[in-house]
Amino acid sequence: MTTRNFRIAPSILSADFARLGEEVKAVVAAGSDWIHFDVMDNHYVPNLTIGPLVCEAIRPHVDVPIDVHLMVKPVDRIVPDFAKAGATFITFHPEASEHVDRTIGLIRENGCCPGLVLNPASPLSWLDHVLDKIDMVLLMSVNPGFGGQSFIPSALPKIARVRELIDRSGREIRLEVDGGVKVDNIAAVAAAGADTFVAGSAIFGAKDYRATIAAMRAQIAAR
Ligand code: DX5
Ligand code: ZN
Repeated sequence: MTTRNFRIAPSILSADFARLGEEVKAVVAAGSDWIHFDVMDNHYVPNLTIGPLVCEAIRPHVDVPIDVHLMVKPVDRIVPDFAKAGATFITFHPEASEHVDRTIGLIRENGCCPGLVLNPASPLSWLDHVLDKIDMVLLMSVNPGFGGQSFIPSALPKIARVRELIDRSGREIRLEVDGGVKVDNIAAVAAAGADTFVAGSAIFGAKDYRATIAAMRAQIAAR
């Protein structure tokens, strides 16, 4: 197996929003590599969360990449706002964009790293003509919209298949998995081929962020 640098990306969806600045600082101090930032619009997904103003507000509090996961439709209008707000990665669902290739280019032109997000039922054929233009594939292991859902096991063979596609591409593309990732299943997710792990409720719902992130890393190492 190729050597991979693993990244843990806590989703602030499960943080205490009344203390968000403290929460992001605490989770980075506890060893997280990225901050995963879930944007929901009550249109593409049935929930409403946070936008560029909140991204801009947390940006000075942490020096790690901010991984903006757009669950919004349309996509393009909001991309420059997130770039200005300090996003590092911007990922979107292809079903929410009329012109997927154009949206990828727009994210790149705005100085961010583009990625595609595939829902549990979304086919991998979305990657066919754009894998050479993206920096991340985000596979959803729950249906998007809410934290705290259970991991859908059919994500595992899908992860393995995308790992093959990425390795064959010869490009550096992160393979991120989002939804229901916990200490007790992260080893299987890593073994399938993921290198970047979103965890919301598993980290922010724990008393000790540092111990939880350390336990996740130990599980990944022992996969
Ligand atoms: C779901 C979001 C996830 C969510 C993960 O639509 O994209 O990032 O916060 O939460 P957990 O880890 O609790 O499943
Ligand atoms: Zn997410």
